[in-house]
Amino acid sequence: MNNKWTADDMPDQSGKVAIVTGANSGLGFASAKALAEKGATVVMACRSEERGREALQQVEKAAATQPVLLQLDLSDLQSVRQFSEQFTHQYGQLDILMNNAGIMATPYGTTADGFEQQIGVNHLGHFALTGQLMELLLSTPNSRIVNVSSLAARNGKLRTDSFQQPDGYEPWPAYSQSKLANLMFTLALQERLQKKDTITLAAHPGGAATNLGRNVQSGKVMKWLAEKVLLPLLPSPAQNARPQLYAATAQDVQSGDYYGPGGWGEISGAPKQVEMPPTIGSREKWEQLWQISEAMTGVQYPV
Ligand SMILES: NC(=O)c1ccc[n+]([C@@H]2O[C@H](COP(=O)([O-])OP(=O)(O)OC[C@H]3O[C@@H](n4cnc5c(N)ncnc54)[C@H](OP(=O)(O)O)[C@@H]3O)[C@@H](O)[C@H]2O)c1
Repeated sequence: MNNKWTADDMPDQSGKVAIVTGANSGLGFASAKALAEKGATVVMACRSEERGREALQQVEKAAATQPVLLQLDLSDLQSVRQFSEQFTHQYGQLDILMNNAGIMATPYGTTADGFEQQIGVNHLGHFALTGQLMELLLSTPNSRIVNVSSLAARNGKLRTDSFQQPDGYEPWPAYSQSKLANLMFTLALQERLQKKDTITLAAHPGGAATNLGRNVQSGKVMKWLAEKVLLPLLPSPAQNARPQLYAATAQDVQSGDYYGPGGWGEISGAPKQVEMPPTIGSREKWEQLWQISEAMTGVQYPV
């Protein structure tokens, strides 16, 4: 592995079609731009048309192939279905599905379908999206699904009763749970994709200066420290989108691999393969997550 790997080292992506969720901001924006620069047709899946249009204009300037904006709200299963149907109708292939969008440590809230919103957006929305695009992924040679997790998964604990229940809700444990779910989903899907041409991988960005912290409830001093001291110290989204771009495009990867930044504490640095955290647990847990995700979203996978 190249320990100086940058997005410039990505192979040519001409002829490929990629979806990036949450492509208007942070790591999703950086990923969409980098893939478009390398020639992929990038579909920017954004919940706000206005924010999406602004981002599209910036990606267009760098793109080798015209990027496209499609509206997607992962906190609404109807929107996920509409997006999947429209995409499938318009495109005959899907080479890269980058499940990147996310929210962090939000106050308690529910999605349109009544799910706690962090698990709803970060995991269940992406579970439904991937399932509804699976036929297209399977029919596209060498297609990939990349799930963007976090170091926070190390503190994650799966409590499926919390998916629809406000009792005992705490913002940070709910975030960690949702990011652990991204990893469990990757492994459960990898098992289902054995003997198929489609692979699935996970990546985490370490720490990057993005808009992710905007919903965190904290005192004035902590907020000031986070915005004025911590954020400027963190690597840029372009630097730390590298693990997810590596997972999406490098040749020497395998289904089930997990990539993160290679520097101290996996916070920054060029991408390297990293270990799943001990909280990943056993197959029994991933299967429990899979079953409940199917039941809650009503999406059955064709694998
Ligand atoms: N930044 C870090 O240090 C860090 C660390 C670990 C993991 N991550 C992970 O990296 C991913 C990207 O986060 P980021 O840091 O780039 O944060 P960000 O700048 O806040 O970007 C998040 C993106 O997700 C979108 N999104 C949120 N809710 C959505 C919904 N219901 N439907 C569709 N899109 C939605 C946002 O859209 P709006 O602009 O409309 O809100 C935005 O485009 C997340 O999965 C996060 O957990 C980030």
